[in-house]
Amino acid sequence: MTINILGTGAIGSALAAGAAKHNVPYRVFSRTPATAVTVVSQQDEQILLHTPLSQPAKLDNSDILILPLKAHQIAPALQQWQPYVSEHTPVILMHNGMGGAEIARHTMPDNPVFLATTRMGALTHSKNHVRITGHGTTDIGFIDAAPGPLTVVQEQVLTILQHCLKDVVWHSDIYPSLWHKLSINAVINPLTALHDVPNGALLSGHFDSQIEVICSETAAVMRASGISADAALLAANVRNVAAATATNYSSMHQDVAHHRQTEIDAINGYIVQQATKKGISVPENALLVKQITALTQR
Ligand code: PAF
Repeated sequence: MTINILGTGAIGSALAAGAAKHNVPYRVFSRTPATAVTVVSQQDEQILLHTPLSQPAKLDNSDILILPLKAHQIAPALQQWQPYVSEHTPVILMHNGMGGAEIARHTMPDNPVFLATTRMGALTHSKNHVRITGHGTTDIGFIDAAPGPLTVVQEQVLTILQHCLKDVVWHSDIYPSLWHKLSINAVINPLTALHDVPNGALLSGHFDSQIEVICSETAAVMRASGISADAALLAANVRNVAAATATNYSSMHQDVAHHRQTEIDAINGYIVQQATKKGISVPENALLVKQITALTQR
């Protein structure tokens, strides 16, 4: 069983380093020519990863395809890989924001698809240097929420991920975890990008009322989507993450700084889209989408 990791981003490289360390066969793929990444662990151990392959390889039932990519890279990546997978190849999506599940259902309707979100900290220092900054939990579950015992494939995927990442928790329904992560990204990512500040700056008091409004809009959409949510608890989670990552610059801040496409459509844009479907008004989220879009189109 080989794990096939798409992209050379921080989380994908951290995952590959875990595989390398625990003798799990792995391959890394990059669409653009790339040199091997070195991952530095929290204990300052240096792990040199395999050189990324630039062309997809034929996968069989026992291989796993993992996409630790940006939300907008999911559709082209799944389309590119669709001819190379068997309908039984497990596919794991790991991205900020939402919408990947819908794309996977469309592009690979028969494959077992898993959705994961991680609190592990990893930062890209230079093109081929990644540093692991914290070992947070990774939550994973199947695309269709299902209580009951795990299937053989689900058990295999969970076991192999647990070999690569230290702390992996299975959820019979992953959607509450994904929504809670979304509610954190919906505040930290656009505000840090718009105000050009690190995550910890959101604790200054200056942003309090805006944080409350974003969280109360998001909580309303979550409840309408069948996820239990309390605005004050969402805001408290945001503050905890901002405190724990105080000196970090969020992924959206970095995307804006490097003139890259942001994940705004999969984060606040997704909240606006779901709110529209449910007839809920979310002006603050809509404003953030507009402001980030304007910022990146300058
Ligand atoms: O996207 C990010 O930067 C991270 O998901 C988070 C949690 C906001 C911390 O920076």
